[in-house]
Parts: sequence; structure tokens; C-alpha cells
Amino acid sequence: MALLEIKKYPDKILRKKALPVKDTQDEALQQLIDNMVETMYDAPGMGLAAPQVGVSLRLCVIDITSGKEPENLYVLINPEIVETSGGEETAEEGCLSIPGYYYEVKRAAQLVVSYTDRDGKKTQLKADGLLSRAIQHEIDHLNALLFIDRIGSVKKDMFKRKYKKELARA
Ligand code: NI
Repeated sequence: MALLEIKKYPDKILRKKALPVKDTQDEALQQLIDNMVETMYDAPGMGLAAPQVGVSLRLCVIDITSGKEPENLYVLINPEIVETSGGEETAEEGCLSIPGYYYEVKRAAQLVVSYTDRDGKKTQLKADGLLSRAIQHEIDHLNALLFIDRIGSVKKDMFKRKYKKELARA
């Protein structure tokens, strides 16, 4: 296994819509999954989408316990939200591609997501709370969206100015 480089905003790959995975049993894909899980736990983070490591495929890994309870690890291949419910909830989010910035984001409280697991089995998952939020955040990445696109234009402009200054200093 190997740690992967996490692409940071404004890397262009984060703005590219990811393509569906065709062969879930492909050896390179399975290795990518292992490396993404390792990279997520090392960061540490609660989720990582393939575009964040430079691979434009519809694949993400999520563990809201950041590895404390490995049975909470989900590998979602070609995920699709099929249903949302319970209204909306607002909570603070961050992103490994935009380190150090946290903003409140409104998300659907509950959802059902259909996906293919790493064994190639089609399945569904019902989620609420933090898991629901993490799934929506990661699927956004597959659709070239970032959480800063969901915080309103005033906050987003402030973020951009601050981030630019920080990049200039680095
Ligand atoms: Ni993110």
C-alpha cells in the first residue's frame, strides 16, 4: 500500500466530473481503493473521493470514525443518491483538499444511496447524521463540486481572498 498525494484547491482535477467505474474487479482499481483508504486514515479524514487523489473516477471511501471502528468503512463505487428525506441540516464541514477551512453547509438530513461495493455487489445504504453528510460531500466531489460552492457567494468570495493570500505566502 502507499500514501497518495491529495490534490489541493484550486487543482483542476477537482473541477472535472468523474467517469463511472467499469470494472470493479480490476486489480489497479482494487489497489487504488486500498491506497485511498490508507491515505484517508493517514490524513486523517472521514472521506476521500478519487478525484482528490488525481483519478477522475466515480469512487469514494468514507469512514466517519476515521479508522477507529473499521467496520464503519464504506467503499462506494458509482454511488447515486436515490432518495433524500428528513429535511435539511446545517453543520460545519471541512475538506482534505481545502485544509484548514471550515464552513457551515446545509445538507439533506437522511438519504438512501445505491452503489457497487468493492466486491462488485450492487447494494443500498440508508444514512443519516454525519454519514449522510459525508456521503453527500464525497458525491459532490465526483460531480466536480466543492463544499465552498455551497456556502453562499459572500462567504465564498471571502474564502477565495483568504486562500489566495495564504497560497502567495506559502
Ligand atoms: Ni472534500
